[in-house]
Amino acid sequence: MSIQGASQKRLTLRDLQSLYSRGEKLAMLTAYDAVTAQLVDEAGVEMILVGDSLGNVVLGFENTIPVTLDDMIRHTAAVVRGSSRALVILDLPFGTATDPETALRASIRVFQETGCQAVKLEGDFKSAPTVRRLVEQGIPVVAHIGLTPQSIHQLGGFYRHGKTSPEIELLKKSAAALQEAGAFAIVLECVMPDVATEITSTLRVPTIGIGSGPHCSGQVLVINDLIGLSVRPAPKFARVRADVAGVISRAVREYVQATKSPENGMGMEV
Ligand code: KIV
Repeated sequence: MSIQGASQKRLTLRDLQSLYSRGEKLAMLTAYDAVTAQLVDEAGVEMILVGDSLGNVVLGFENTIPVTLDDMIRHTAAVVRGSSRALVILDLPFGTATDPETALRASIRVFQETGCQAVKLEGDFKSAPTVRRLVEQGIPVVAHIGLTPQSIHQLGGFYRHGKTSPEIELLKKSAAALQEAGAFAIVLECVMPDVATEITSTLRVPTIGIGSGPHCSGQVLVINDLIGLSVRPAPKFARVRADVAGVISRAVREYVQATKSPENGMGMEV
């Protein structure tokens, strides 16, 4: 049920699969709170990802590593309350999908405490047994390969993946293994566009690209990058379509000025 109380049927995996089979591109965006979720939902995205980008986008951390399962559960429950149509996906945070049983325990909590419909986990072909374990228990999974921010210290920075033959082989092997394990979609983050195109053409499940070119089966962006709500520059691949930071900043400056002006009281917030 949305915050407004309207009941609308939520999209299911079968709906997404049929849109994908018809060749329709899938739109996914992140959201971290009920109000944004409602706006994003009403604007027509098929999937809302409560990304662990929560850490750097909302909670003020340097990266996603400090984000906890409790953080994710709190924000995802809000997103579920705010939305009524989109499929809501919780991003399993650092340390909660290290092995199949740990991921299962975390996902059971997630499903029981948030009402979301799927989880996402970062990891290459070595995560396939974890994906399989969750899917066997009725927990839909989105896989995530390429640039995986939870491994930032291992990767040594943010860069495009799929430039060398070993990297390309790893990406292809991982995409195939994760699909076989039952992932219903695979996020390709910062993958060379030609490699992303090739992977997309070989899979039976949709790829969702971010910084991986236009030929994935769908796209995902961090909402703050899309709407210009950040104090840091958006990544180069993100087309910033609004200046919400500017709107907030102007409104607050006007408010401060008006509050301090001697005419305070003329149509003011009193
Ligand atoms: O955490 C996140 O927002 C993500 C997307 C960028 C794919 O994982």
